[in-house]
Amino acid sequence: MKVLIIGAAGNIGRIISRELGKKYEIITAGRNSGEIRADLSSPASITEMFSKLQNIDACICVAGQSYLGDFPSMTQEDMQLSIQDKLIGQINLVSIGMDYLNDNGSFTLISGKMGDQPSKFSVGKAISNGGINSFTRAAAMEMPRGIRLNTVSPGKISDITIEDLTHAYLQSIEGQINGEIIKVNYN
Ligand SMILES: NC(=O)c1ccc[n+]([C@@H]2O[C@H](COP(=O)([O-])OP(=O)(O)OC[C@H]3O[C@@H](n4cnc5c(N)ncnc54)[C@H](OP(=O)(O)O)[C@@H]3O)[C@@H](O)[C@H]2O)c1
Repeated sequence: MKVLIIGAAGNIGRIISRELGKKYEIITAGRNSGEIRADLSSPASITEMFSKLQNIDACICVAGQSYLGDFPSMTQEDMQLSIQDKLIGQINLVSIGMDYLNDNGSFTLISGKMGDQPSKFSVGKAISNGGINSFTRAAAMEMPRGIRLNTVSPGKISDITIEDLTHAYLQSIEGQINGEIIKVNYN
């Protein structure tokens, strides 16, 4: 299986690239890191990335920025960051990438605990994560050619074991699940 990981150089990306790399061929991507350069916030950049690649079975996204801070001082720019980068960026990844992925391939997006169990100062994360979860459940029903779409929703990375994180990604790329939000360590 050929697995494309966008955000492979990040905290979560480094772990899953290493662990999934024990079983599968990995292609890494990021804005300024990885084998392929791509910026999720630019549809043209996403198209360019996929047009350079062939035979991708699984596309995993572990990238996307969102605003962390209090709601009363949240600016339009802060709000745009959460929506444009993490939410719209991942939606565009699927809407563009589904024409390139192999039959019966899979997308695995990333959201996070703050979409389900927000705490103070998490409005920016809550709106992007909640949107990604809703998008996943809805769009999964309309994926073409047997392609599946799931999202991993982790708690804080420092509370998560490598085994649990890896298991979540294997569930998505190897299993038959579709439209699922895979929650990892919400403690
Ligand atoms: N860390 C946690 O505790 C945690 C918990 C729950 C959810 N999450 C979510 O998981 C995702 C990854 O978190 P992380 O902590 O691993 O982040 P991170 O360490 O900042 O890594 C993010 C990675 O994504 C790439 N990236 C960022 N923006 C991009 C863009 N627009 N286009 C393409 N690549 C981009 C970065 O590389 P370049 O700079 O080279 O582009 C980097 O390799 C985030 O969406 C975060 O909200 C994280």
